[in-house]
Amino acid sequence: MPLPKAELHLHIEGTLEPELLVTIARRNELSLPTMDVAELRAEYLFDDLQTFLDLYYRNVAVLRTEQDFYELAAAYLRRAHADGVRRAEIFFDPQQHLRNGVPLAVVMSGLSAALADARAAQGISADLILCFLRDLGGDAAKEMLHAALPFRDQFIGVGLDSAEMGYPPSLFREVYAMAAAEDLRRVAHAGEEGGPDYVWEALDILGAERIDHGIRALEDASLVQRLREERIPLTVCPLSNVALRAVPTLADHMLPAMLDEGLLVTVNSDDPAYFGGYVEQNFEAVGAQLGFGGDVLAQLAENSFEACFATPEQRAGWNAELREAVSRQTAQATETLGRNT
Ligand code: ADE
Ligand code: ZN
Repeated sequence: MPLPKAELHLHIEGTLEPELLVTIARRNELSLPTMDVAELRAEYLFDDLQTFLDLYYRNVAVLRTEQDFYELAAAYLRRAHADGVRRAEIFFDPQQHLRNGVPLAVVMSGLSAALADARAAQGISADLILCFLRDLGGDAAKEMLHAALPFRDQFIGVGLDSAEMGYPPSLFREVYAMAAAEDLRRVAHAGEEGGPDYVWEALDILGAERIDHGIRALEDASLVQRLREERIPLTVCPLSNVALRAVPTLADHMLPAMLDEGLLVTVNSDDPAYFGGYVEQNFEAVGAQLGFGGDVLAQLAENSFEACFATPEQRAGWNAELREAVSRQTAQATETLGRNT
């Protein structure tokens, strides 16, 4: 049984599996280079973040209607529920949909309806985080936030994603100040491809409460100290880092070093349709490849609840479930050991 956990770094557009991509493209009478699922999946090999983003934005362009956004989010939430996810804080990229001619109201109503239905049917707690595309710059981000404010009750925070190098967090100082004035939570991708200086800027200039990826933070000892002392969460995505070649193999991943440094790290899937696994597969992969035992995996699950934006009461409830799951696992392991000796 998967451990109860929160998923805090997940782009809903990155859950678009080739099967659904083809279904939606056909329904909207849009063409793709191929309509063959296996051929589409064979394209999912990347050299870096940019080669991935090129394909991701091409595929995102099939999403046009409320039903498309509903089906996308509903499929992810079903999958997440099966993976033990109790809480999901989900990124979406509205600037890209606007560029494709899709009104924001269509995106918001499709996603919000799927979240409400999953809450009712599966008891999963989920909220949306609106991401700004950093390669479109600070003014476009301000326009985006302004346009999104009529939907303020349908998202809990803002994030920063897309091409990182050359687009430092400092470009987004004003829009993050606007978001803070609206009481929105603030997170930002930093230190995925960019260096520790991007993480510093996200903290100092944007007031980021959580850093997405942050794997390069380890290169700067004083940054590590700051992250540790302030318990700033880092939402790490191990399979993504391998797929986008931020690390050569999972066995080389810095996650053990980050844990050894006492950082509040969590494990997440990022864009699971593209990177070979949903959140539980990320947990299983780090367990197998980095030699993490049940205690470390439970620590990572506990970290995810500490790092999430749910209420203290919700977090206490999930932590209690987690403790029960861990004691059940321990009891089973002891029983198996007893039978085999
Ligand atoms: N958009 C979707 N996935 C992303 C990632 N891993 N980094 C930056 N932008 C993204
Ligand atoms: Zn991401």
